[in-house]
Amino acid sequence: MSEQDVTRRNFMIRTIIGIGAFIGVAISVPLAGFGILPVLRKRDAGWSDAGTAADLLTDEPQERRFFQMVKSGWQEERMERTVWLVRKADGSVTAFSPNCPHLGCGYRWFSQDKQFKCPCHASFFDIDGKVIAGPAPRALDTLPAKIESGKVLVKFEIFQVGTAKKTAA
Ligand code: FES
Repeated sequence: MSEQDVTRRNFMIRTIIGIGAFIGVAISVPLAGFGILPVLRKRDAGWSDAGTAADLLTDEPQERRFFQMVKSGWQEERMERTVWLVRKADGSVTAFSPNCPHLGCGYRWFSQDKQFKCPCHASFFDIDGKVIAGPAPRALDTLPAKIESGKVLVKFEIFQVGTAKKTAA
């Protein structure tokens, strides 16, 4: 075998390896982009419009439904959410997650008793979310909330239930 044949064979082998590597990269980059990265990205959501502030009465909690736009990778989903809003005499607003921190049931406000009550296992909370009675291991979960241009804005989040510490789910 001549030296020229060996060089030509080396060239062919390197060319085939190079083409194989190029095809491998060309296939794996989009796959990583569409399949893996969105899963690794944390869901990211900003402030959501939870309606007008004008009809919130002082110390009279009100349940509000609104839509939150949730980004997950390149996708954006419209999720229906609920919060309990409490307006205080100083004009500030507190937003509570709608799920009882015991096992996640929905609770309601009872004006006559001035308490939030969870029907599942009878956890009761005061207007500031503190536990008055029942198995709830922590106070109602607050959410970042503010009033801007007459609107209540909320950063909605979901928390783990059944734990003494408030932890994002
Ligand atoms: S889920 Fe509310 S008390 Fe158990």
